[in-house]
Amino acid sequence: MEIKIVGVIGCGQMGRGIAEVCARHGYQTTVTDVSQELLDSGIQLIDRSLTVAAKRGKMTEQDKDTTLSRLHHTLNIGDFGDCDLVIEAAVENLEEKKKVFAKLDEVCPSHTVLASNTSCLSVLDMAMSTKRPDHVIGMHFFNPVPVMKLVEIVKTIVSSDETVNTGRSFAETLEKTVILAQDSPGFIVNRLLMPYLLGAVRMLEAGVASKEDIDQGMVLGCNHPMGPLTLLDYIGLDTSYFIACAMYEEFKDPLYAPPILVKKMVAAGHLGRKSGKGFFDYK
Ligand code: CAA
Repeated sequence: MEIKIVGVIGCGQMGRGIAEVCARHGYQTTVTDVSQELLDSGIQLIDRSLTVAAKRGKMTEQDKDTTLSRLHHTLNIGDFGDCDLVIEAAVENLEEKKKVFAKLDEVCPSHTVLASNTSCLSVLDMAMSTKRPDHVIGMHFFNPVPVMKLVEIVKTIVSSDETVNTGRSFAETLEKTVILAQDSPGFIVNRLLMPYLLGAVRMLEAGVASKEDIDQGMVLGCNHPMGPLTLLDYIGLDTSYFIACAMYEEFKDPLYAPPILVKKMVAAGHLGRKSGKGFFDYK
């Protein structure tokens, strides 16, 4: 199925990155969020990102203007009625996501593919809140979306092959490489990444090394672009804590149990880069 018009639910870090990349690759893209304030701030950040890209010679000023002209925003999910694909990147709360999927199912035509950018929640549960569960998949992008080359396509036990193929072909038109995972918590990447990141925190808690040396070890010893504690700050401690809790809840494997330090940092509002303070300082 050919995708021409894309909808994106959520204009936060992931949603705005997805919307930017879709608009840059020629798709009419409509984005929504729960308040005008969040929507305006998301659109402003997309504009800023495109301005940086133009300044760095990655696109012309004309491309930037054309991209912006393809980007539409609305507070009314009813405006998603002409979308061929909707990618949900709302808050990581299963009940909220199920409500969004049920609403999309009402307003979108029967051919529309509904996808979730969830990093760890059950895509099947979202699919079953619609009357078209075969048209629902996961499409998990990585942060920062304009830079990261990967999309995980998540197939539930009821996703049709046609829907999976549509998602795959679409992601490839965004110049992303696709990997396919079953609908299992954390899919491929977070199932491997989370124990590693949480292990770094446990190492810090145990006093094995300083935060700087733990990070330096993985940057210089393994050529990772960021050390694990910097990456946790980048993802957000609240998001990481949420993913760990959700995966621990499903697997009951201590590898996914959130360390006490992460819980306390979240309670203190030390959420990483977005709050100005996490394991490191960003003020
Ligand atoms: N938007 C667009 N472009 C960006 C960007 C952003 N937010 N951040 C960086 N870039 C671009 C820069 O413009 C630059 O482009 P050029 O080289 O063409 O000039 C390039 O990326 C490199 O950026 P910088 O030189 O500023 O900085 P860097 O070399 O340190 O790279 C980084 C920054 C790309 C974020 C790199 O550190 C990195 O890859 N870090 C790891 C990120 C990662 O692991 N992400 C996955 C997180 S897990 C996840 O998302 C899933 C989940 O469910 C939790």
